[in-house]
Amino acid sequence: FSEQEKPQLLAGKNIMITAGPTREAIDPVRYISNHSSGKMGYALAQAARLLGANVTVVSGPVALAAPTSCHLVKVTSALDMHDAVMADIHQQDIFIACAAVADYRPESIAEQKIKKTNSDEMVVRMIKNPDIVASVAALENSPFTVGFAAETQDVEHYARDKMQRKNLAMIAANDVAQSGQGFNAEDNALTVFWPQGSTQIALASKQDVAVQLLQLIATQFNANTR
Ligand code: CTP
Ligand code: CA
Repeated sequence: FSEQEKPQLLAGKNIMITAGPTREAIDPVRYISNHSSGKMGYALAQAARLLGANVTVVSGPVALAAPTSCHLVKVTSALDMHDAVMADIHQQDIFIACAAVADYRPESIAEQKIKKTNSDEMVVRMIKNPDIVASVAALENSPFTVGFAAETQDVEHYARDKMQRKNLAMIAANDVAQSGQGFNAEDNALTVFWPQGSTQIALASKQDVAVQLLQLIATQFNANTR
């Protein structure tokens, strides 16, 4: 299909996508984060537009232009992202969790810049963040919920386990041990699992991979809701 001829598999459907990293503040000038670029999430947003969906992107801090014709909600921390998602989730038909959410945050944020001391070490105590995709999937009347899994080994085992534990309809697994794909790379390759099947999306640009993944999601979504 050319860009214009893509069947509008998701015409009029509401999709929310989380994208990018989160930043967990330590003090007013410091934070803990990760190398997520947001490119995969933003590519998914454009692919969802191509298929005719109304798209909301809840994005952590990224160095990307706003996705065109999408509702963009900018957030910083995992708690902010959780709240922004939950505030609008009841309108959504499909939820795709592409963000690299920090699993933990500093237990408290110092009000003033932390000063260097005479000690050669410093300890930052961390506490667990809420699991956003699991919270969405646990809602009554939850949207069709798709997660990502970044794994370095035993990809199928860990991905299927995550899908089950979080009660997801589908999961897209990234083998982050392969160089040149996934985190902060231009290209990506995915293995996508759902309860009754799986398929591979070969290494390609994140734009191409996003269109293929959205077509798979649309097919499963339409099969599940019919
Ligand atoms: N996720 C989320 N909220 C979190 C952590 C993860 O919504 N607090 C989502 C991610 O967006 C992704 C999925 O959960 O869709 C899996 O993320 P991943 O980091 O691979 O899994 P975790 O459950 O955090 O397990 P681990 O990091 O130990 O592999
Ligand atoms: Ca994690």
